[in-house]
Amino acid sequence: MKQFEGRVAVITGAGSGIGRELAIACAGRGMKLVLADVDTEGLAGTKGLISGTIAVRTRLCDVSNSEAVHDLAGFAFEEFGHVHLLFNNAGVASLGPVWSATPEDWKWVLGVNLIGVANGIQSFVPRMIAAGQDGHIVNTSSGAGLTAVAGSGVYCASKHAVVALSECLLKDLENAGSKLKVNVLCPSLVKTAIADSNRHRPAHLASANPDSAPFDQRVRAGMEASEVSAADVARITLQAICDDDFYILPHPAVRIRVEERLRDIIGDHRHQEPDNLVKTTDGP
Ligand SMILES: NC(=O)c1ccc[n+]([C@@H]2O[C@H](COP(=O)([O-])OP(=O)(O)OC[C@H]3O[C@@H](n4cnc5c(N)ncnc54)[C@H](O)[C@@H]3O)[C@@H](O)[C@H]2O)c1
Repeated sequence: MKQFEGRVAVITGAGSGIGRELAIACAGRGMKLVLADVDTEGLAGTKGLISGTIAVRTRLCDVSNSEAVHDLAGFAFEEFGHVHLLFNNAGVASLGPVWSATPEDWKWVLGVNLIGVANGIQSFVPRMIAAGQDGHIVNTSSGAGLTAVAGSGVYCASKHAVVALSECLLKDLENAGSKLKVNVLCPSLVKTAIADSNRHRPAHLASANPDSAPFDQRVRAGMEASEVSAADVARITLQAICDDDFYILPHPAVRIRVEERLRDIIGDHRHQEPDNLVKTTDGP
């Protein structure tokens, strides 16, 4: 999609971090916006950062609730007539070894990160297909959706599922002859409020996990030191939409880890054994 001006973007998790910067970047391209989040103040804060000439609507919406997302879609189409960019971006994180994760951890993290994306697809995509216009569905996964991160099993599982879901969505849209495209956004650490995800954790899914790890200083320091900001991620994402690049990897280090993982999967360890590599290539 090359034309942004005057078109409509819906962004979940728009009250903070990457979602907020996506909103600012889309507004900078002259788009109309529907911003959704569970955080009223966050939404007002994002709206306040956007020029008064841009049409912005805000909506409280828990993406893990299919009815709420269905209502969000109805609201967006009613307000602006169409949706061209759907950013399924809302996400949360919990930490701890896999064996310590409780049913509440799984329900919360998968509910927001995976079912939230599925709800967005179910509520918006049929209407976007029916309109026959071009557009993109941009699902926020993570570098943790392409590789394994110790102490992040539940989060990684949710984000790997978002990558798989996005890959399947792309194929399904192609099979249906739709003009719609898909992108999956896979950043590594970015300085946002995700380390304080618990701030929006519902009471009925409160952690009963004695081994759940708070985001330690190392992770927070990694976010502080990240060479890629949330604004960079938003800029790179809009460019990828323009260029129709399916996988969006704003951090170069993620590419290296993905390559290592793929070599492990296909059993090609030669990159770790330069002597063998020389022997193989120099062989008769
Ligand atoms: N920050 C990072 O290092 C990083 C890295 C890779 C991927 N991500 C992903 O980026 C996305 C955005 O996260 P962020 O880093 O900007 O964090 P953030 O906490 O700053 O923003 C997340 C937003 O999602 C909202 N949210 C939480 N639960 C919700 C729900 N049930 N329904 C609707 N909104 C909800 C929060 O209120 C918040 O405004 C997430 O999907 C996250 O997993 C973040």
